[in-house]
Amino acid sequence: NRGPLVDPFARAITYLRVSVTDRCDFRCVYCMSENMTFLPKRDLLTLEELDRLCSAFVARGVRKLRLTGGEPLVRRNLMDLIRSLSRHLDAGTLEELTLTTNGSQLARFADDLRQAGVRRLNVSLDTLDPDRFKAITRWGDFSKVMDGLRAAEEAGIHVKINMVALRDVNADEIETMLAFCHERGHDLTLIETMPLGDIEGDRTDQFLPLSEVRRRLETRYTLDDLPDRTGGPARYVRVRETGGRLGFITPLTHNFCESCNRVRLTCTGTLYMCLGQEDAADLRAPLRASEGDEALHAAIDEAIARKPKGHDFIIDRDRQAPAVSRHMSVTGG
Ligand code: GTP
Ligand code: 5AD
Ligand code: SF4
Repeated sequence: NRGPLVDPFARAITYLRVSVTDRCDFRCVYCMSENMTFLPKRDLLTLEELDRLCSAFVARGVRKLRLTGGEPLVRRNLMDLIRSLSRHLDAGTLEELTLTTNGSQLARFADDLRQAGVRRLNVSLDTLDPDRFKAITRWGDFSKVMDGLRAAEEAGIHVKINMVALRDVNADEIETMLAFCHERGHDLTLIETMPLGDIEGDRTDQFLPLSEVRRRLETRYTLDDLPDRTGGPARYVRVRETGGRLGFITPLTHNFCESCNRVRLTCTGTLYMCLGQEDAADLRAPLRASEGDEALHAAIDEAIARKPKGHDFIIDRDRQAPAVSRHMSVTGG
């Protein structure tokens, strides 16, 4: 009865990102403060409720689901949700079911994920140096992530590495990371740090415009532009020398909002229509109001009708407050 989701700017919403937990076993310096407080567990939607919400979106034309966090794989029994959602893959109504993970638990879950229909994974990895890794993630264990990458490879899951490029932290490692990823058949995507949530340090100092990185890479590599294939914010190139793919996510230096196809759902049932805006809609109340989905679909329609044109991130020395006060771990990027 209710059709596909189209926002006021005629953008079709076909991609839902779902943060299944705000918790994480790392404390990356650009993402969280060390003593981050998390939601009380009773505020979380159950896995059954998350399933119902995701399925409502699939019924409205969402073709790609990405589970994020926090760290999605620290949510207890997450595999049950993934296995259940994979029925939409079998039915052909969902094209892709995937995750963005820090890789710490991948060694345990790679086989199960593959069996449940997960074909691609995005793994966040900002450095290949174990000491630096510790400095960036504070709580992370580098060798576990390496084990996880190997397990994903062996399970036949295609991996894309996400690297947040930070001026004094890992800018000198981009070429090394590129070689590492392409040797192993992983794609690499570089990301500009975005002003989300309070952290201890100053983001202005660490912001590295990727336009600068690209120019630097072009002194050594030949980068051939590729047409967009994932419908995501990354612009991809093929690196002629390695044969691999390299993506740039540049919310600050090149805005890609005009082709946005996504909305974000949190583990408490809040729908964010844009990563870079505060406006949100509560879907938990209509979800819990009745067993039927009519109220839920009405709330989804109302939310999509409010999707803004784009974010207003800026990184500016004179504007110290983050553009958005919630942390990336609430909406999972
Ligand atoms: P694929 O294109 O499917 O590989 O996914 P993706 O790159 O969109 O997802 P991923 O979870 O790997 O996110 C990588 C980075 O892109 C994260 O830092 C996200 O915050 C950022 N990102 C994803 N979507 C958006 C968006 O709509 N706006 C902005 N500003 N950033 C986004
Ligand atoms: N800016 C840009 N990317 C971020 N991530 C986390 N916090 C930020 C931020 N402030 C990245 C993670 C992960 C992805 C989901 O978001 O490294 O790769
Ligand atoms: Fe955890 Fe990802 Fe945030 Fe790091 S960036 S603390 S891995 S949610």
